[in-house]
Amino acid sequence: MGHKKRSPGVRPAGADPGPRKVHIKTFGCQMNVYDSERIAELLAPLGFAETADVEEADVVVLNTCHIREKAAEKVYSDLGRIREIKERRKREGRDTIVTVAGCVAQAEGEEIVRREPSVDVVVGPQSYQELGDLLARARSRGAAVVETAFPEKNKFAALPERAGRGAPTAFLTVQEGCDKFCTFCVVPYTRGAEYSRSVADVEAEARRLVDRGVREITLLGQNVNAYHGAGQDGRAWSLAELMLRLACIEGLERLRYSTSHPRDMSEDLIAAHRDLPKLMPYLHLPVQAGSDRILAAMNRRHTRAEYLALIGRIRATRPDIALSTDIIVGFPGEADGDFQLTLAVLEEVGFAQAYAFKYSPRPGTPAAGMEQQLPDDVKDNRLQQVLAVVDRSQTAFNSACVGRVVPVLLERPGRHPGQLIGRSPYMQAVHLTAPPSLCGHVAGLKSSRQASIVSRES
Ligand code: SAH
Ligand code: SF4
Ligand code: F3S
Repeated sequence: MGHKKRSPGVRPAGADPGPRKVHIKTFGCQMNVYDSERIAELLAPLGFAETADVEEADVVVLNTCHIREKAAEKVYSDLGRIREIKERRKREGRDTIVTVAGCVAQAEGEEIVRREPSVDVVVGPQSYQELGDLLARARSRGAAVVETAFPEKNKFAALPERAGRGAPTAFLTVQEGCDKFCTFCVVPYTRGAEYSRSVADVEAEARRLVDRGVREITLLGQNVNAYHGAGQDGRAWSLAELMLRLACIEGLERLRYSTSHPRDMSEDLIAAHRDLPKLMPYLHLPVQAGSDRILAAMNRRHTRAEYLALIGRIRATRPDIALSTDIIVGFPGEADGDFQLTLAVLEEVGFAQAYAFKYSPRPGTPAAGMEQQLPDDVKDNRLQQVLAVVDRSQTAFNSACVGRVVPVLLERPGRHPGQLIGRSPYMQAVHLTAPPSLCGHVAGLKSSRQASIVSRES
């Protein structure tokens, strides 16, 4: 398909041109959050206003995640409910176009329509810039349209300019895809080969966001620290170089980046945590496991000792940095001795935050075919042990902040009247009473009690 085409809209000529609505539900990682925002921006000029109410949506978009079985299956239970809404709306004379976007769309393609025939459009994460056309085609054909190509021309060039949501924080995808092929992971198949946007492209989007009031930008990539985007000098720039450039944008106060791979944690990036005041002292660096035997079976390309040495270098450069990680428990063949080494790494590093997952075999990945798959009760038990250790190290990290004055970026109103929610440099959520006009400002706040940070399991 061409990339320049723009759909005039999906409503047939002569029909009532009343306001049309799109409901977008996002599953999975921050990159999907970014993509959903871009999808909303793409559909707005076609006449679609966003709605939080799925029942009133003319177009429903599920932006899906395939990383674990639970995440993927959740999509089908949602689709069942949406089918009923679609049928009810049909009886009332209103059409609904059901769209499955994201990583389940990429991984399962046509299969989604076979399993759930009420789906009208299936579109992968590298093709959603075509969504206007795909909606129009589904409407005129009366049959499902599936688009899961990895087009040569990147989607960013085909998307309309970034609009922003008017919030003080924003995500900005700078790198996509992955060439690492960890044996448990679907990302290299769902997001395709590693690709970095050019420095100029990223800078232009960052400037637009700052012009619209954004104060903190989180640079995103499945392997964000493998960033090597083309600079105007013809060289490939590193993530650290990119951030040095973005830090010059007046009005931008904070930079973050996620997610990093230990192998790509270059010395200039570590130094940026010392030299770049706008770069927040928080680093998410997944270790996955503590046993070299399991790390090798996972094809992680780092050993336990290499990871710990890296943490040592990072802490020597930026002693107060808050470290976060991902852990998989119950990888095929993980013996109790292997698992104890995972607990030991957690104890040794003392993470401020960690996300722990039970290993979930994914179709088409090498680990799914490995022998010695572990039963769920073993995984459950190990997960609980991980969460207990992480809970202790989190509490220790937060307790060490009590009594310190930390700058908090106030982001949004809280649930209670008069309440605002912000974040410390270390990503701790802070709730306070303050006027809404302070949203978007950084306030110096003394930590009087522990911020509540919770680990999640999904
Ligand atoms: N690009 C990032 C992570 C992407 S997926 C990185 O390389 O670290 C986010 C997390 O999901 C991973 O870090 C891993 O801990 C978890 N994950 C990925 N595949 C999984 C699987 N098959 N089962 C359980 N957890 C998985
Ligand atoms: Fe998946 Fe590994 Fe790539 Fe991360 S580095 S996205 S875990 S294959
Ligand atoms: Fe999920 Fe795709 Fe992100 S599988 S974690 S939505 S890259």
